[in-house]
Amino acid sequence: MTSLKQIRSTFLDYFAADGHEKVQSAPLVPQNDPTLLFVNAGMVPFKDYFTGAATPPYKRATSSQKCVRAGGKHNDLDNVGYTARHHTFFEMLGNFSFGDYFKDHAIESAWGLLTKEFGLDPSRLLVTVYHTDDEAFDIWKKITGFSDDKIIRIPTADNFWAMGDSGPCGPCTEIFYDHGDHIFGGPPGSPDEDGDRFVEIWNNVFMQHEKENDKIVRDLPKPSVDTGMGLERIAAVLQGVHSNYEVDLFKSLIGASEELTSTKAEGERAPSHRVIADHLRSTAFLIADGVTPSNEGRGYVLRRIMRRAMRHAHLLGAADPLMHRLVPTLVQEMGEAYPELGRAQAFIEDTLKQEEIRFRTTLGRGMNLFDQATTGFKAGDMLDGQTAFTLYDTYGFPLDLTQDEARRRGFSVNVDGFESAMEEQRARSREHWTGSGQTASAGAWLALRDQHGVTQFTGYDSETGEGQVVAILKDGVAVEAAEAGEVVEVVLDKTPFYAEGGGQAGDKGGFVWSNGEGRVLDTKKHADLFVHTVQVAQGAALTVGAVVTATVEVGSRPTTRANHSAAHLLHAALKNVLGPHVAQKGQMVDSERMRFDFSHNAPLTDEEIARIEDEVNAVIRQNLPTTTALMHPEAAIEAGAVALFGEKYGDEVRVLTLGQALTGEGAYSVELCGGTHVARTGDIALFKIVSEGGVAAGVRRIEALTGEAARQFLLAQANVARSLAQSFKIQTADVPARVEALSAERKALEKQVADLKKQLALGGGAGANAAPEEINGVKLIARVLDGVDGKGLRGVAEDFKKQLGSGVVALVGVTDGKAAVTVAATPDMAGKVNAANLARDAVIAMGGKGAGGKPDFAQGGAPDGSKAEAGLEAIRAALKG
Ligand code: ALA
Repeated sequence: MTSLKQIRSTFLDYFAADGHEKVQSAPLVPQNDPTLLFVNAGMVPFKDYFTGAATPPYKRATSSQKCVRAGGKHNDLDNVGYTARHHTFFEMLGNFSFGDYFKDHAIESAWGLLTKEFGLDPSRLLVTVYHTDDEAFDIWKKITGFSDDKIIRIPTADNFWAMGDSGPCGPCTEIFYDHGDHIFGGPPGSPDEDGDRFVEIWNNVFMQHEKENDKIVRDLPKPSVDTGMGLERIAAVLQGVHSNYEVDLFKSLIGASEELTSTKAEGERAPSHRVIADHLRSTAFLIADGVTPSNEGRGYVLRRIMRRAMRHAHLLGAADPLMHRLVPTLVQEMGEAYPELGRAQAFIEDTLKQEEIRFRTTLGRGMNLFDQATTGFKAGDMLDGQTAFTLYDTYGFPLDLTQDEARRRGFSVNVDGFESAMEEQRARSREHWTGSGQTASAGAWLALRDQHGVTQFTGYDSETGEGQVVAILKDGVAVEAAEAGEVVEVVLDKTPFYAEGGGQAGDKGGFVWSNGEGRVLDTKKHADLFVHTVQVAQGAALTVGAVVTATVEVGSRPTTRANHSAAHLLHAALKNVLGPHVAQKGQMVDSERMRFDFSHNAPLTDEEIARIEDEVNAVIRQNLPTTTALMHPEAAIEAGAVALFGEKYGDEVRVLTLGQALTGEGAYSVELCGGTHVARTGDIALFKIVSEGGVAAGVRRIEALTGEAARQFLLAQANVARSLAQSFKIQTADVPARVEALSAERKALEKQVADLKKQLALGGGAGANAAPEEINGVKLIARVLDGVDGKGLRGVAEDFKKQLGSGVVALVGVTDGKAAVTVAATPDMAGKVNAANLARDAVIAMGGKGAGGKPDFAQGGAPDGSKAEAGLEAIRAALKG
């Protein structure tokens, strides 16, 4: 059997031998197109090469591209698990010509690969062409010798492929495989074409034109070729199975879920196993590329896929979180072709586990609600929208999960009812809009917006401008005027003040109006209104209808811009240096600093930090102009597979491009962003990371400075080094060596001091009693040792014992005003003298409580070191008896 791995490499090798550059799959989150939700075709990473916007470094390329079709226009989520060929994640094999070969070579190589390399029986194959494409028809005829009924002309969009309403497009030819007459279905173009017998395995697109807003606006500079073959489909054909879920890779994934749930993928359990295997792939790959579950945008699509899989795990009776335990099998199967999986394995497992734990807290109760609501249902009945909404709102069931459960039982869901329940909830929250403390409720802002329209933001181009006051709110309630000293919220019809959003702080500054002025303390956005917090300073009251000149705090904008643009560059550099799993988790930029949180599992090494700084500074030095493209979100959404945006961008989406890639073609950073940015990267001047650390599991934080602040930081560090050098009277470069030498010297000196103290104690020093005394026939050495602690006394006592041969050693060490006592007796003193009793007498004489030890060695401590001599006297007294 030809394994999926072998098919992938045979395809890539076949085209590599024909002069195609093997290109690694791009990450699932589009790098050059932030309006696209996920990469959903092999050509997406090459889009700019087709349109001529960038020059490819090669004329031919081949790749196996990771694709996700969920959440956008190409949404296969609903069907996955119930059909033989739907996936949320799949690999698209492709060969590409960028103005090099065209139809004849494309068709010839496709035919060669299928019939020679893969050895498919030509009688099982048939093709379609676009109805007017005589050229393609004739080439097929010549190469295959097919009869006319096997080269089917199709007049519909099925054979005219376009990336979206805008982008490269052209006629295409599709190759079909006939799975045999035991399966229902007719050839393409026939009434039964939707049956499962004839399956499309390969699409060859002849890119010739470019569309804008669904109209062909120009011919591409050079006709090109874009092809796409679903790896899982061709694997099914080559492995002689009908369903993609029976190919080797899926067998092993399903095998793992069978084992862990102790259930078989048979009967009504089969769809659950298929869902789990498919969703495991999309979730693991999305997480590896930096998407994490959330309630909006890409993160919500991921959450929907994850929770759908988790419900099926629950259906199979899995008592504990399951999905993360399947990751090792996936890494084993696909980690070689996609090393990012292995690199992110721990992060993927942790993310899956946390989500499953969280979802399980509500899953069971949600399912109970579903059961109750559908009691007595028969096939075809419809679950009411309110219940679907409660499941969504209270139990975290995405709508498609509820629909999936309904479908499994033969019911449907009232989607309109769900939508109106959702709308009712929004309306309810709008009603509670009467003043509530400092700021008005969401409903109040919505009402104001409906009345006056959204605020026009003029601050991309200027930092000062006139605006008319449309509303003043005091403690959340609309008022007509605000007097000197009052703090109110003010909405203008237009303003240059940036409202906090996208991680950029709101602007501060001032308002001036006839005879009066006020300070703007902050600017926030509510329902697309820019709301200034204003303290009326002096002069005339501020009134609704007044015209004010609004000026952003002088000097704050340029640094805010530099910090914000640098955050984008940092984001791109982190991805380049650490890997595509890095995703922004939070950001804060203002005029003073930048803080950037991102997904990553380990502390950054010094070398990684240095590489990141090098990259960002290299792009700064490019000093290229920033470009901003404005797109209407509707147009973007229409363009296919396009996003739910996490941020509210008003009427237009700003797509911001900074710098040029340091290797290869294209921009260095492309992001959707409503913030204010530098005009040229050089305006950032300098970038310096000042700290890096962890903030939560799998999330790191970098703080950095730009421009003058970065220069001051570096200067301060240089000054420290310089003043050290000056005090040592050496060169700055020699400071580290000198510090190291000094610390080695200090260690050596400390040791010397310790040795000397010991020597002194042993009788070498002035004032020490050299000879032992004798009491009642017992030789005694009694000493007070300054600066020696209990530990030190032990060694000294041993040495004295040796000197003495027979007798008792009594030592009191005094450190920090406290006393430590050690009494040691030679072995022959046994029965005559008890060291423990002597030590206790000494300690008590010095105001302590007692001592511990054995008859030949005991230690204790006392609070008052000044009574050391009294302690020794107590020992003498005890020996005298
Ligand atoms: N881009 C073409 C497709 O996705 C090959 O079908």
